Amino acid sequence: MEYYEINGGRRLVGEVVVHGAKNSVLPLLCATALADGVSVLHNCPSLSDVEASIAILRHLGCRVTREGTTVTVDASCLSRSDVPDVLMREMRSSIIFLGAILARTGEADVSMPGGCELGPRPIDLHLSALRKLGAGIEQRGGRLRCTGGTALCGAEITLTLPSVGATENIMLCACAAEGVTVICNAAREPEIVDLARFLRAMGAHIQGEGSGTVRIEGGRGKLHGCEHRVIGDRIVCATYLSAVACAGGEASLTGVEPEQLAAVTGVLRDAGAEILATAPDALTIRRDRPLDGGVVVRTSPYPGFPTDAQPVVMAALCNARRSSLFVETMFENRYRHVDELRRMGADIRVEDRVAVVGGTETGLRGAAVEAHDLRGGGALCVAALGAAGTTILTGLAHIRRGYASLPEDLRALGADITLHTEQN
Ligand code: UD1
Repeated sequence: MEYYEINGGRRLVGEVVVHGAKNSVLPLLCATALADGVSVLHNCPSLSDVEASIAILRHLGCRVTREGTTVTVDASCLSRSDVPDVLMREMRSSIIFLGAILARTGEADVSMPGGCELGPRPIDLHLSALRKLGAGIEQRGGRLRCTGGTALCGAEITLTLPSVGATENIMLCACAAEGVTVICNAAREPEIVDLARFLRAMGAHIQGEGSGTVRIEGGRGKLHGCEHRVIGDRIVCATYLSAVACAGGEASLTGVEPEQLAAVTGVLRDAGAEILATAPDALTIRRDRPLDGGVVVRTSPYPGFPTDAQPVVMAALCNARRSSLFVETMFENRYRHVDELRRMGADIRVEDRVAVVGGTETGLRGAAVEAHDLRGGGALCVAALGAAGTTILTGLAHIRRGYASLPEDLRALGADITLHTEQN
C-alpha cells in the first residue's frame, strides 16, 4: 500500500515553479497526430494521463520520445485509426483523439468513454458536432466507428454548453474540413487558447480562441510539426495557493499567468488571504492571520470559478472562522471529498449541488483519509497541511493523474510530507 504521511500545522514558506497543464498537454498530444512530421512539446508534466496519451500515439504508429519535460512526437509514420478499449479506458479525455484521428486518417474506431468518478460524462455534443462536419458515426457494442473523414466540410456549430472537450474535438477535426467552421458558444478556457496557438504553429488557420466564437478555415494543405511550450497548470497553482491559505505562510508561485487564476484568487482574497501578481507569470500569497471565510463560490465555465478548483478551495475554507457556501454547477458527483474532510473535523453540509462549509473554532485535525478522485485528493492534501497532527492519505493513483510533483513541491515550501510504500 502506498500513502502520504502529512504532519500538518506548519507555515508554508518558499517558492515553487508550477508544472505544465494536464488539461493543455492532453489535447496538444492529440493534435500532434495531425502533423505529417515531428512536433516537440516542452513543459510536459510527468503524469499518468500523459503516459496514457503517449501510449495511444505509439499504438497509432507514432514514434514518441521523452527527455525530461520535453516530449517529441513523430507522427509521419502514423498508420492506424483504432484505439483499443484498454487504452481508451485509461482516461476519459482520450475521446479527443476521435477528432484528431478522423482528421488525419479519414476514419476512426474508438470505444465510448464511460462515466467517471465525477458522474456521467456524456459526449453527445462531440458526436453531433462531428456529424455536422460530415462524419458518419455508428455506435455499436461500446465502440464508435467514424467514417467520412476525407470529405469533411466546414459548418456553423452552436454548442448548447461551452464544453471544453467538444470545442477541442471540433477544432482538431475542422482542420481537415474543407471551408470555414465556426464554433458558437465555444469554451473559452486557457487550454483552448493553447491548443489554437499550437495548431496555428502547425499551419492551421484559426481565429477567435478565448472568445465564445472560434473560426477555423480547414482543408488548406497538410499540417506540419512544430515546437511549443505547454502553459502552466492553473489548477495545480490553485492547489498550492489553497495550501498556503489553509496552513498559513508566504509563497511565490511561478510558471502560470495570474490572469488565468483571477476567479480563484478573487475568492481566496475575499476569504482573507493577500495575493499579488508579481510578474506576467508569477504570483505571491501571504496569510498570517486565520482565514476569515464568509465567501460564496459558484463553479462555472471560464472565466468563472473552475469546478476543478472547488475541492481544494473548499478544503482551505474548512479552516476559516466563518461559514462559506459552494454551488457546484458543472458535475453531479463532485463532493466526494466532503466525507473525508469531515473525518478531519470539517463541518460541511451538502444538499444536492450546494455545500455549506461551517467555520471552525478548533481547526482541522489529522486523520486517515482516502482520495476518491484527482482534485479531491488535492483537497485532502490541502486540509492535511492546515490540520493539527498526522494525516495518512491513500488513493495516490488518482493524485498522480494530475500532480507531477506534489510531495516535492510542498516540501520545498517547508511541508512535512512523506511517501510511504508498504509491501502487503
Ligand atoms: C474538461 C477538463 C476537466 C474540467 C472540465 C470543466 C480536460 C481533460 N478536462 O473536461 O478537468 O473539469 O473541462 O471545466 O480538459 N457535457 C455534455 N455533453 C457533452 C460534453 C459535455 O452534456 O457532449 C457537459 C458535461 O457533463 C459537463 C459540462 O458539459 O456538465 C462541461 O463538460 P466539459 O467542458 O465537456 O468537460 P470536459 O471537456 O470533459
